Amino acid sequence: MTEPTHRPLPAGYRLTSLTEADKRAVLEVDTWAFPSEVDLDEQVQHPLPLTWSRTFGVVSDHEDADAVPFDGAVPTVSELAAMHASYPFAEFPVPGATLPVSGLTWVGVHPQHRRRGILSAMIDVHFEQARAAGEPVSALFAAEAAIYGRFGYGQAAQDLRLTIPRGAALRDVPGADEHTVRIEKADRARHGELVDSLHRAAGADPGGHGTGVNRPGWVTRESPELQEAWWSDPAAFRRGRESQRIVVVERDGEPRGYATFRRKLSWETTGPRGTVSTGEVVALDAAAARALWGVLTDLDLTSEVEPFMIPVDDVVTHLLVNPRAAAGRVADNLWVRVLDVPVALAGRRYAGDVDVVLHVSDARVPENSGHWRLRATAFGGAACERTEDPADLSLDVRELGSAFLGGVSLASLATAGLVSEHRPGARAAASAAFGWPVAPVSSWVF
Ligand SMILES: CC(C)(COP(=O)(O)OP(=O)(O)OC[C@H]1O[C@@H](n2cnc3c(N)ncnc32)[C@H](O)[C@@H]1OP(=O)(O)O)[C@@H](O)C(=O)NCCC(=O)NCCS
Repeated sequence: MTEPTHRPLPAGYRLTSLTEADKRAVLEVDTWAFPSEVDLDEQVQHPLPLTWSRTFGVVSDHEDADAVPFDGAVPTVSELAAMHASYPFAEFPVPGATLPVSGLTWVGVHPQHRRRGILSAMIDVHFEQARAAGEPVSALFAAEAAIYGRFGYGQAAQDLRLTIPRGAALRDVPGADEHTVRIEKADRARHGELVDSLHRAAGADPGGHGTGVNRPGWVTRESPELQEAWWSDPAAFRRGRESQRIVVVERDGEPRGYATFRRKLSWETTGPRGTVSTGEVVALDAAAARALWGVLTDLDLTSEVEPFMIPVDDVVTHLLVNPRAAAGRVADNLWVRVLDVPVALAGRRYAGDVDVVLHVSDARVPENSGHWRLRATAFGGAACERTEDPADLSLDVRELGSAFLGGVSLASLATAGLVSEHRPGARAAASAAFGWPVAPVSSWVF
């Protein structure tokens, strides 16, 4: 463990860099924070998704209660009390563009050390590191949704979790039945490149219209460690389900979409009632999506398919003949924290012309506070600079994070009293510009 520079932690704790040699200690603190049914001895055998140079621990140095004092001194012991890490997303999709984003992850504090300000200190470290690395935005998935708002993260994307009955009727899409279907065991050597290229292409151009309207938040597994961990499929973590499967649909010999899934069988007196849990359902156009959903909703011995984390505007929501038959729930997906207002705001595209002065408040990153003039043309360039001009709208950086991916409207935040308008018309114009035609989502949890 080597010592980086660090911000104040509560007394008795210090920040440290972690390396591969700390893998067991990392898993130990992680399983204290996130209880797991899988033994540590099993867990250490599998790859971790962490980028070690971006992985940090908080060590507690304390007197060893069991030790016999030597020369009047009580020996101290050092234990890992907490950790956090981030993923380097160099090409994180934001509306109409990509930006370097730091993906905050593996945040955990041992229950023995909680509620003493360790997370608060780690967040400051994370913000400082991301800004120093030129990452104007931090994004995360929250284990508990009440944690991160206080730090300026806004809920920026939602996803849909559905239960679709087997055999649910789907509207026809021309060309769907021209696909051939391969159903195979998911295997990185065989499917790795296919999955990566289809995932990127589907995010860059949902529906295959060639319009440059991308899907914000559709982040790819950019690091080798993320790739390795995503494809690793240890039996101990499957909770009774089969190993990862993949269905690939091809047209004219070219892959046009894939879905990962696992089935779990249940034999009941009325017959088999298996469940299909999908991972990612990714298609280049509507016909390929229709072909994939046709396969997933008609697997033998199953009675329902449970897509996990699909976009709220997913193709299947429009293709279901009887959408009411598919029970659903909307959940929070990505949380976004703007760390560098001018770089972040100039780094995305806007769906309408806009010229607005935003008064941003930010209790944690004072550099963000103040008046910012944003000028942009619809689907064109954008510029953002500090100004002394009077504000048209006031909002906290948390609300800016919510609106940043285009999935939460400034007008709806204003309705909740979270955005104030000082110039009539500014709210409607800024809302239209900050919105985006395609709903933001990440297809996998990081
Ligand atoms: C969530 C967790 C990281 C918090 O760490 P911590 O060191 O106890 O947090 P802090 O003492 O710095 O608390 C900072 C503030 O957040 C609040 N907070 C912390 N955890 C919270 C939670 N789960 N829900 C709501 N508020 C929470 C604290 O009350 C405190 O509020 P205050 O500033 O108004 O006093 C820790 O409890 C943990 O590891 N939990 C289990 C794993 C987990 O959920 N990790 C997050 C992964 S995304």
